[in-house]
Amino acid sequence: MIVDVLDIPVVSAGGIGDARGVASAFALGAEGVFLGSRFIPTVENPAAESVKQKIVDASASDLLLYRTLPAYYRSLPTPLVEKLVDMDQQGASREEIAQAAGGAGAIRIGMLEGNGEGGIITVGTGITPITKIQTVQEVVDELATGIC
Ligand SMILES: Cc1cc2nc3c(=O)[nH]c(=O)nc-3n(C[C@H](O)[C@H](O)[C@H](O)COP(=O)(O)O)c2cc1C
Repeated sequence: MIVDVLDIPVVSAGGIGDARGVASAFALGAEGVFLGSRFIPTVENPAAESVKQKIVDASASDLLLYRTLPAYYRSLPTPLVEKLVDMDQQGASREEIAQAAGGAGAIRIGMLEGNGEGGIITVGTGITPITKIQTVQEVVDELATGIC
Protein backbone atom coordinates (compact mmCIF):
# COMPACT_ATOMS: atom_id res chain seq x y z
CA MET A 1 0.00 0.00 0.00
CA ILE A 2 2.85 2.38 0.83
CA VAL A 3 4.57 1.63 -2.47
CA ASP A 4 1.33 2.49 -4.32
CA VAL A 5 1.05 5.97 -2.81
CA LEU A 6 4.71 7.05 -2.82
CA ASP A 7 6.90 7.99 -5.74
CA ILE A 8 10.16 7.57 -3.84
CA PRO A 9 12.02 4.28 -3.26
CA VAL A 10 10.68 2.27 -0.33
CA VAL A 11 12.96 0.28 1.99
CA SER A 12 11.25 -2.49 3.95
CA ALA A 13 12.29 -3.16 7.56
CA GLY A 14 11.28 -5.38 10.42
CA GLY A 15 11.22 -9.15 10.83
CA ILE A 16 13.30 -10.01 7.78
CA GLY A 17 15.69 -12.84 8.60
CA ASP A 18 16.52 -14.74 5.45
CA ALA A 19 16.57 -14.66 1.65
CA ARG A 20 12.88 -15.54 1.46
CA GLY A 21 12.08 -12.55 3.66
CA VAL A 22 14.11 -10.38 1.31
CA ALA A 23 12.27 -11.87 -1.69
CA SER A 24 8.91 -11.15 0.01
CA ALA A 25 9.85 -7.50 0.54
CA PHE A 26 10.84 -7.11 -3.09
CA ALA A 27 7.67 -8.92 -4.22
CA LEU A 28 5.66 -6.35 -2.24
CA GLY A 29 7.39 -3.56 -4.16
CA ALA A 30 10.26 -2.53 -1.88
CA GLU A 31 13.47 -1.43 -3.54
CA GLY A 32 15.61 -2.22 -0.56
CA VAL A 33 15.63 -3.95 2.82
CA PHE A 34 16.92 -2.87 6.23
CA LEU A 35 17.84 -5.58 8.72
CA GLY A 36 18.87 -5.11 12.34
CA SER A 37 18.45 -8.26 14.42
CA ARG A 38 19.91 -10.53 11.74
CA PHE A 39 23.28 -8.83 12.13
CA ILE A 40 23.59 -9.17 15.90
CA PRO A 41 24.83 -12.79 15.86
CA THR A 42 27.64 -11.99 13.44
CA VAL A 43 31.36 -12.31 14.05
CA GLU A 44 31.89 -8.56 13.71
CA ASN A 45 29.10 -7.51 16.07
CA PRO A 46 30.24 -6.25 19.52
CA ALA A 47 27.44 -8.15 21.32
CA ALA A 48 28.58 -10.70 23.93
CA GLU A 49 29.23 -14.17 22.51
CA SER A 50 26.70 -15.63 24.96
CA VAL A 51 24.05 -13.26 23.60
CA LYS A 52 24.83 -14.20 20.00
CA GLN A 53 24.41 -17.87 20.91
CA LYS A 54 21.13 -17.18 22.76
CA ILE A 55 19.79 -15.50 19.62
CA VAL A 56 20.91 -18.43 17.45
CA ASP A 57 19.15 -20.84 19.82
CA ALA A 58 15.95 -18.78 20.12
CA SER A 59 13.03 -18.23 17.77
CA ALA A 60 10.37 -15.53 17.47
CA SER A 61 8.02 -17.51 19.71
CA ASP A 62 10.48 -17.15 22.62
CA LEU A 63 10.24 -13.35 22.57
CA LEU A 64 8.33 -11.40 25.20
CA LEU A 65 6.47 -8.24 24.22
CA TYR A 66 5.90 -5.30 26.53
CA ARG A 67 4.90 -1.66 26.24
CA THR A 68 7.48 0.93 27.14
CA LEU A 69 8.87 4.17 25.69
CA PRO A 70 9.23 5.02 22.90
CA ALA A 71 7.36 1.95 21.66
CA TYR A 72 6.68 -1.73 22.17
CA TYR A 73 9.76 -3.89 22.72
CA ARG A 74 10.35 -7.53 21.89
CA SER A 75 13.03 -9.15 24.05
CA LEU A 76 14.41 -12.52 24.96
CA PRO A 77 13.26 -13.54 28.44
CA THR A 78 15.51 -12.28 31.25
CA PRO A 79 14.52 -11.61 34.88
CA LEU A 80 14.32 -7.87 34.16
CA VAL A 81 12.19 -8.37 31.02
CA GLU A 82 9.86 -10.73 32.88
CA LYS A 83 9.41 -8.04 35.53
CA LEU A 84 8.63 -5.44 32.83
CA VAL A 85 6.06 -7.76 31.22
CA ASP A 86 4.43 -8.27 34.65
CA MET A 87 4.30 -4.52 35.19
CA ASP A 88 2.70 -4.07 31.76
CA GLN A 89 0.09 -6.76 32.44
CA GLN A 90 -0.71 -5.17 35.79
CA GLY A 91 -1.43 -1.85 34.12
CA ALA A 92 1.75 0.14 34.85
CA SER A 93 2.20 3.20 32.64
CA ARG A 94 4.71 3.25 29.81
CA GLU A 95 6.70 5.84 31.78
CA GLU A 96 6.85 3.56 34.84
CA ILE A 97 7.93 0.61 32.69
CA ALA A 98 10.60 2.70 30.93
CA GLN A 99 11.92 3.86 34.29
CA ALA A 100 12.10 0.28 35.61
CA ALA A 101 13.84 -0.76 32.36
CA GLY A 102 16.64 1.67 33.13
CA GLY A 103 16.97 3.20 29.66
CA ALA A 104 19.64 2.25 27.15
CA GLY A 105 21.91 1.09 29.99
CA ALA A 106 19.94 -2.15 30.36
CA ILE A 107 20.41 -2.93 26.67
CA ARG A 108 24.16 -2.30 26.99
CA ILE A 109 24.37 -4.55 30.05
CA GLY A 110 22.25 -7.25 28.44
CA MET A 111 23.59 -7.22 24.91
CA LEU A 112 27.18 -6.00 25.10
CA GLU A 113 28.14 -7.31 28.53
CA GLY A 114 26.00 -10.44 28.36
CA ASN A 115 24.54 -9.93 31.83
CA GLY A 116 21.29 -11.87 31.63
CA GLU A 117 20.18 -10.90 35.13
CA GLY A 118 19.81 -7.13 34.95
CA GLY A 119 19.90 -6.67 31.21
CA ILE A 120 17.66 -6.58 28.17
CA ILE A 121 18.29 -8.50 24.95
CA THR A 122 16.00 -6.88 22.43
CA VAL A 123 15.61 -8.42 18.98
CA GLY A 124 12.88 -8.76 16.37
CA THR A 125 10.92 -11.67 14.96
CA GLY A 126 13.41 -12.18 12.12
CA ILE A 127 15.67 -14.24 14.40
CA THR A 128 13.87 -17.54 13.73
CA PRO A 129 15.88 -18.57 10.62
CA ILE A 130 19.27 -17.82 12.23
CA THR A 131 21.10 -21.12 12.77
CA LYS A 132 24.70 -20.05 13.32
CA ILE A 133 27.05 -17.14 13.98
CA GLN A 134 28.33 -15.96 10.59
CA THR A 135 30.38 -13.12 9.20
CA VAL A 136 28.53 -10.09 7.85
CA GLN A 137 29.78 -11.03 4.38
CA GLU A 138 28.22 -14.49 4.66
CA VAL A 139 24.91 -13.05 5.86
CA VAL A 140 24.78 -10.46 3.07
CA ASP A 141 25.68 -13.05 0.43
CA GLU A 142 22.93 -15.34 1.70
CA LEU A 143 20.33 -12.55 1.87
CA ALA A 144 21.24 -11.28 -1.59
CA THR A 145 20.09 -14.56 -3.16
CA GLY A 146 16.55 -13.37 -2.34
CA ILE A 147 16.79 -10.22 -4.47
CA CYS A 148 14.66 -10.63 -7.57
C1 LIG B 1 19.34 -3.75 19.84
C2 LIG B 1 18.34 -2.99 19.04
C3 LIG B 1 18.10 -1.66 19.36
C4 LIG B 1 17.19 -0.92 18.64
N1 LIG B 1 16.99 0.38 18.98
C5 LIG B 1 16.11 1.11 18.26
C6 LIG B 1 15.89 2.47 18.56
O1 LIG B 1 16.48 3.03 19.49
N2 LIG B 1 15.00 3.16 17.82
C7 LIG B 1 14.32 2.57 16.77
O2 LIG B 1 13.54 3.23 16.11
N3 LIG B 1 14.51 1.28 16.47
C8 LIG B 1 15.38 0.55 17.18
N4 LIG B 1 15.57 -0.77 16.88
C9 LIG B 1 14.76 -1.35 15.85
C10 LIG B 1 15.49 -1.36 14.53
O3 LIG B 1 15.27 -0.16 13.90
C11 LIG B 1 14.97 -2.57 13.79
O4 LIG B 1 15.93 -3.50 14.06
C12 LIG B 1 14.83 -2.39 12.33
O5 LIG B 1 13.60 -1.81 12.09
C13 LIG B 1 14.91 -3.71 11.56
O6 LIG B 1 14.11 -4.70 12.12
P1 LIG B 1 14.72 -6.13 12.42
O7 LIG B 1 15.55 -6.01 13.66
O8 LIG B 1 13.49 -7.01 12.63
O9 LIG B 1 15.54 -6.53 11.23
C14 LIG B 1 16.47 -1.51 17.58
C15 LIG B 1 16.70 -2.86 17.27
C16 LIG B 1 17.61 -3.59 17.98
C17 LIG B 1 17.83 -5.04 17.58
